[in-house]
Formats: sequence, structure tokens, C-alpha cells
Amino acid sequence: MSVVRKPEQNQTINYPLVIAAIVVWTIISFIVGLYGAEWFMPEAATVEADAVDNLFRFMLGFGTFIFLLVETLIFYFAIRYGFMRDRNDESDGPPVHGNNTVEIVWTIIPAIIVFALTIYSFQVLIDTTEAKDGEREIKVTGQQFFWSFEYPDEQYQLKINHILVVPEDQAIKLAMNSEDVIHAFWVPAFRVKQDVMPGRTSNLRFTANKHTGLPDPSLINIYDPTLTVDQIDELDFGYEIVCAELCGALHGRMRGKAFVVTDEEYEEFLEGLREIEREKERQRQEALENLDALKELGRTLFATYGCNACHQLTDANSLNMGQGPSLNGLEERAATYPGYESAEDYIHTSIINPNAHVVEGYAPGIMPQNFASRIPPEDLDILVTYLAAPKDN
Ligand code: CUA
Repeated sequence: MSVVRKPEQNQTINYPLVIAAIVVWTIISFIVGLYGAEWFMPEAATVEADAVDNLFRFMLGFGTFIFLLVETLIFYFAIRYGFMRDRNDESDGPPVHGNNTVEIVWTIIPAIIVFALTIYSFQVLIDTTEAKDGEREIKVTGQQFFWSFEYPDEQYQLKINHILVVPEDQAIKLAMNSEDVIHAFWVPAFRVKQDVMPGRTSNLRFTANKHTGLPDPSLINIYDPTLTVDQIDELDFGYEIVCAELCGALHGRMRGKAFVVTDEEYEEFLEGLREIEREKERQRQEALENLDALKELGRTLFATYGCNACHQLTDANSLNMGQGPSLNGLEERAATYPGYESAEDYIHTSIINPNAHVVEGYAPGIMPQNFASRIPPEDLDILVTYLAAPKDN
């Protein structure tokens, strides 16, 4: 028959040891909380980053304390009542039926912590998302699998892929849309992240405050529309832009760089984009008369409208083996499709209505169906003519 041990036979609590442990945990938690943002967070480059990092410190400090408390108790009990137990003692434990003090304490303390965290994080959320005075809007479009940015301008549509440029100390509002599935725009160094959804505009606000400048043209020509994400990635400055929502096969390649510049550099950058538009107008004229000019503009448009995100086309510097069929040798294949007057006809249909003919081995519905509204007719004509034109490789 087993003996039931009486509660008073239990070991008494060693108060000095408990207090010492709590003091040590508190000091460690305080240090981890204080330096945690430096250890675990990337470089901070916005005004908003401070608020987010402070919230992170606060949570990490509390988290560390609770972690130490729980882990220490687990190890203590595992050793004391596991390895070091009295192996001849077969008596039952004391019959304990509830302890109101303990229950009140372990309910109230976490409730206070969670309540404080809720209020604090809500305040940070309000501060970092509210509209600021004099903010400048930049349009962001997410699509499988790249980001594009449109800068406000009276005369032209100033668009550029992969590269976000913002003036320093200027409140920015990103107005974001998706052309296909849900993406999430994230710049870790800016400490802001927001879902980007089709059919709905979501906003993201920040004020960048760490100047990077624009890449030197000898390193990379940011105005070159055939610039790939990998080439941009190789730059060792600028802040990473990533997609934070699993959006398809090449989600991991949906990256870019953000640059923070002075007002003069920003104006210079916009002027560079305007120059591209002027050049495009000239090329469009020329392309109508000359095959080399047509090809050059075609390569540009192939990248501008993101065809290179999914289709291989060696002539346009796209070596992608991805989502869509290769377009190498398309001019010959296109000519073999029955029911079309010309290769151009077939290609035109395939761009604006991708499900009309799906190349064997590929699934319907992968290519966006809205290119008719995304590519202006004058660009579409040139793109089609380029794709149908004979190429060397
Ligand atoms: Cu877009 Cu992941």
C-alpha cells in the first residue's frame, strides 16, 4: 500500500535562490531587449523604423523573460524530480486541490502584458500608417514575378521595373495594386510591409531617412529596361525589396532595390525616365521604317511589359526557363498555326487572349488575360512585329 505524503512534508521554497534567479533573468531580458534590434534586425532606413524597433525590443525583452522562466523550470523539474528523484520513494504526491493565489497571479500578469502589448502595437500601427502632410504618391504594381513603379508626371507615364527611388526625408505613400494574385510588398530596412491585391488599392507609408544615392552608371544602368533582378541584386547597396507572399513558382525572384536620394538626384532620376519615353517615341517612329530599330525597341518592350519574367527569348537577353513557353524561334512556329493570316495575327491573339492556343505542356490560365488593357496599342503593334521578326538566335 502506498503512503500519501502530506503537503507539509514538501520541500520549502528557497526564496533567496528564486529572487536571485529572477534578478538574473531580468538583467538578461533587459540586455536582450535593449540590443535585440541591433542583433536581429537589418539596417534601419526610415523614420518609422524607430517605432517598430522599439516595439520589437519590448516584445523581445518580455519574450526572453518568459522563455528563461519556462525553460529554467522545465530543466529544474526534469532534473530534480527526474534524474535526482529518490528511486525508493513510492509514496503518492500530496493531494493539492487548486491554489487561488497562483491562479490569480498567472491570469493577471499575462493579461496585463498582453493588454500593454496590444495598446502599444496598435499605437505603432496608427503612427506608421496614418496619412502625413505633403506626402508624395508612387504607384506600385505587383505581378508574377516582378515589381514595377510609376512616378507621377504631367506629361509621361514614368514607369520602371524593379527599382524604387524615393527622396530622402520626404513622406511617401505607395498606392499598390496587383495584376494577378496576392503579393506583399516588403522593404525590411524600411520596416514596412503590406499585401498587394488584385482589384483593390492598398497603401504603404514611410519616410526614408538614410541616403544611398543612385547606382553609378559604370556599375549598372538603371534605365536599361532589360536589366535583370540578378544584376540589380549584385549591387551591394540600396535596400532590398522582396515579395513576402508566396505567389507562384518564381516568387523568390520577385525582388528589387530601393534607393534613397536627395531632391536633386530624384529630379535627375525622373528626367532620366522622361528621356526614355522621348527615346521610345523616336524609336517607335524609326521602328516603322527599319528592322534593327524595331528589334531594339522590341527588346525594350519585351522587358517593360514583363514578358521576360516568364518567357525565354535569347534575342531579348531573357534566359528564363520558367512559367511560359520559350519564344525562341517563335516566328517559324507562329507561321504554322492554322486559321491565321500571318504570324503577327497569331501572336497578337496569343498576347491579348492567352488561352486561345495553349502550347503543349503548359497549363491554361497562367498568363495574365489583361494585356489588352496593359499594353497601349502602339506598343503592342511593335511588340508583335518584333516577336514575329526573324532573329539570329
Ligand atoms: Cu509575388 Cu511572391
